[in-house]
Amino acid sequence: MSEEVRTSIHGQWSNRMVFILAATGSAVGLGNIWKFPYIAGENGGGAFVIVYLICIAVIGVPIMMAEVMLGRRGRQSPINTMSALAAEEGRPASWALLGWLGVAAGFLILSYYSVIAGWALSYVFRTASGVFEGATADGVSSIFTNFISNPESLLAWHTIFMVATMIIVSRGVKNGIERAVSYLMPTLFVLLIILIFYSMSTGYFFEGLDFLFTPDFSKLTASSVLVAMGHAFFTLSLGMGAIMVYGSYLPKETSIAKSSMMIAVADTLVALLAGMVIFPIAFANNLEPGAGPGLIFQTLPIAFGQMEAGVLIGTLFFVLLVFAAWSSSISLIEPAVAWLVENKGISRVAASVWCGFATWLVGIGSVLSFNLWAKKTWSLSLFGETLFENKTFFDTLDGLTANIMLPMGGLFIAIFAGWLMKSESSKKELNTKEKGYNLWLLLVRVVAPIAVMVVFLNVIGVIK
Ligand code: PFF
Repeated sequence: MSEEVRTSIHGQWSNRMVFILAATGSAVGLGNIWKFPYIAGENGGGAFVIVYLICIAVIGVPIMMAEVMLGRRGRQSPINTMSALAAEEGRPASWALLGWLGVAAGFLILSYYSVIAGWALSYVFRTASGVFEGATADGVSSIFTNFISNPESLLAWHTIFMVATMIIVSRGVKNGIERAVSYLMPTLFVLLIILIFYSMSTGYFFEGLDFLFTPDFSKLTASSVLVAMGHAFFTLSLGMGAIMVYGSYLPKETSIAKSSMMIAVADTLVALLAGMVIFPIAFANNLEPGAGPGLIFQTLPIAFGQMEAGVLIGTLFFVLLVFAAWSSSISLIEPAVAWLVENKGISRVAASVWCGFATWLVGIGSVLSFNLWAKKTWSLSLFGETLFENKTFFDTLDGLTANIMLPMGGLFIAIFAGWLMKSESSKKELNTKEKGYNLWLLLVRVVAPIAVMVVFLNVIGVIK
């Protein structure tokens, strides 16, 4: 059994397009449709969006190229890839810790990601049942509030989503997800476009655009810059080995630079489209753009309730959101599962069950954050500066992973790929034109690490 399973982990994507789809499937997820609009809303809109776009271009794309490159060169799970590459380049074996940091981040992210994906899953049925037809903004909000205040039902949906994730991971990524994403991603795109037409009809479309694209830099604080940078990592699935492990299944001849750019563009487009749908609906219905994690669950159903064929479009939309989350959640746990199979000689099924169970357990904390533990909060300070204050378990995990662990992982990936790997190695692997290579090297050696460090130092108050 484990022999076939092994070949499936170390198999290859059938072609470049499949890799792009799988990596886009990992990148496009709750981060784009659920998280981006609400954090843009909480951080004042336009200025935040600009910082986020800059981070995607100058930090995200080069680090994505670095991650894919390391993965393809190492051809194993991120932990083993980093040990192998460190040995090959004559660097300390402790570089494997970078892989471990990624595995830990993946666990923690999936634990809360699955809870939110569970919300989306329950909204499939809710929307299909027609409860939102003709509902007012207040009605929609109270349905949401009642839902999240019930821990049993959140737990049930979280459990279902986790099991679904484990089923796919246990079968290997190639067989199920590869085929699924090639239909789902384009459909999601089409649905977003349909929703854009609806949001144009609200009469508040330009207010939405204005909020999303007109920068007011006075609203930008050190912590919102950190959130924007953290989100660039989160949305592109960077800094934790997900893209590295996908890179390890990549055929030799594929252009890493072109693929990475395509993935980043597709991902960014989905996020911006989602924002362009959600803010006009929020403004048209007097809803707060900074409403937090519930934002899309309180805006979109209003639109579905008023649209022609809203039950159908709404149901389809949440189905696709669940699929987008699903294709991301697989990549969150794949590095850990691949490592267990490689190192512990257990089957992929057993590895998936163990990883899934551990993640599910941690997820209970996030389930409770919206009800029984809503008042239980955590704070984190570093060098006497508060990093976050009075955050729920859910918000703490999110802040810790997206804003600290992923950028930190990305920083070390950039340092390894840019400085510690011989340039013959990276040049050969990237195989781009001289000019492109030099630009990448500049970004990954200097621009990305300095940007990440400046943001960190600024937040902990070392530089003001
Ligand atoms: N990129 C995913 C999203 O935007 O929803 C989340 C994610 C997946 C983060 C995989 C990190 C990761 F490794």
